[in-house]
Amino acid sequence: MSSIVLIGFMGAGKTTVGKELVKKGFELIDTDAYIEACEKMSISDIFAQKGEDYFRQAETKALKTLLVQDKQFVISCGGGMPLSEENRKLLKKLGMVVYLRIQPETVLARLKGDTTRPLLKGDDSGERVRTLMKQREAHYLSGADFVLDVDQKTPGELAEEIFKEF
Ligand code: S3P
Repeated sequence: MSSIVLIGFMGAGKTTVGKELVKKGFELIDTDAYIEACEKMSISDIFAQKGEDYFRQAETKALKTLLVQDKQFVISCGGGMPLSEENRKLLKKLGMVVYLRIQPETVLARLKGDTTRPLLKGDDSGERVRTLMKQREAHYLSGADFVLDVDQKTPGELAEEIFKEF
């Protein structure tokens, strides 16, 4: 059964837009929250104690678990989910993949003072955001069925556009 899958950089609003889609009857799965519940640990602690590779494996495991459930969800993915080819294939099998594209300046404004993203810890200049975005853009694009620019739109408007395409 086909789900709506939201991908994109940290701060793009995947979970916020996902919550808008819940109003249209979808069940929301936030892969970060799902992994935290399975591991009984925060994302920061998983990165610190078990490492990023372990977290990436947990992400793949989460997608496989969702796939066998054969239910319709809106799935809000962690920002690094589409980085591996295996995950990109799993995401497409899960349903319609929407890339919520955000500009680096908007990410920096939205995530100022955030302490929950281990990959952006200490990135005061925003250099890491810019570098990671450049490295990831091609993966986001190749993993997506369509792209929505989020910077000038409200979560409700984005959810409407996604719902129309579905
Ligand atoms: C990550 C994004 C985070 C979370 C983890 C790693 C990434 O999710 O999965 O900190 O590699 O971009 P959000 O995109 O929901 O912040």
